[in-house]
Amino acid sequence: MNNSPIAVFDSGLGGLSVVRHLRQLLPSENLVYFGDTARVPYGIKSRPTVAQFALELAGFTMQFDPKLIVAACNTASALALDELERELPVPVIGVVNPGALAAVRLAHQESIAVIGTEATINSGSYVRAIRTISPEQNVESQPCPLFVPLVEEGRACDDPIVQLTVATYLEPLKQRDVRVVVLGCTHYPLLRDAIAAYLGSDVHIVDSGRETSLAVREHLARNGSLSSHNVPGSMSCFVSDNPQRFRRIGSRFLDEPIDDVELVEPERYVNVARLPSALR
Ligand code: DGL
Repeated sequence: MNNSPIAVFDSGLGGLSVVRHLRQLLPSENLVYFGDTARVPYGIKSRPTVAQFALELAGFTMQFDPKLIVAACNTASALALDELERELPVPVIGVVNPGALAAVRLAHQESIAVIGTEATINSGSYVRAIRTISPEQNVESQPCPLFVPLVEEGRACDDPIVQLTVATYLEPLKQRDVRVVVLGCTHYPLLRDAIAAYLGSDVHIVDSGRETSLAVREHLARNGSLSSHNVPGSMSCFVSDNPQRFRRIGSRFLDEPIDDVELVEPERYVNVARLPSALR
């Protein structure tokens, strides 16, 4: 048993779509969330920048003595998981490998498509993760950069702009007859109904955030590190900018109201050497 919190970080508020599953699957765990709302989006940034930012966010969470860190951001997981695993003194679980594993299980050798930010797709991380599990697997990839602003703007799945955007990005995947689509971005689960309606009921949809939450539960159970509490776990949120917007928009991702949000000044996380060799 281990009653330390699980730390979760993301480029902004999207990681709350992962926290939503963690809260459902692990209701008695305490959670600490750090969203980099001052520097979002990560999905158009380069690997060195995303890796530096990810290390800073994870480094900030170390003050809470987490038993595990979840890189909820697909872009950070795709571009920086190796650095995070190397530099952090606690286990780090990213969203790419759990999503890839679920996709391979569902595909039965038929085609898989991965959708995500430009940086996630260009990194090739999902394709590598899938082919590590299933070397002959056919994998298509499609960046869908407009999905993030549409979701943050609160556009619903039946909004004509959403439907046109979904059709524009996913038409090539439909042509290629994919059987599994991996939602490789924190925001895309909020468009799930529009994506499913466009692709049809034969296509399985993998939510990397949910698969990651299952992987976290399995990891903690395997290591005897689940919380011993049988009361609902706490949740503390930290953001690098605009806590009001985080509270307002984030509650749609989390599917519950957000009460406890603290603004963190840059001197508390930027270039702070809390990790052995990173950030120097
Ligand atoms: N959290 C990011 C991801 O999952 C999406 C938003 C961003 O570009 O930072 O890739």
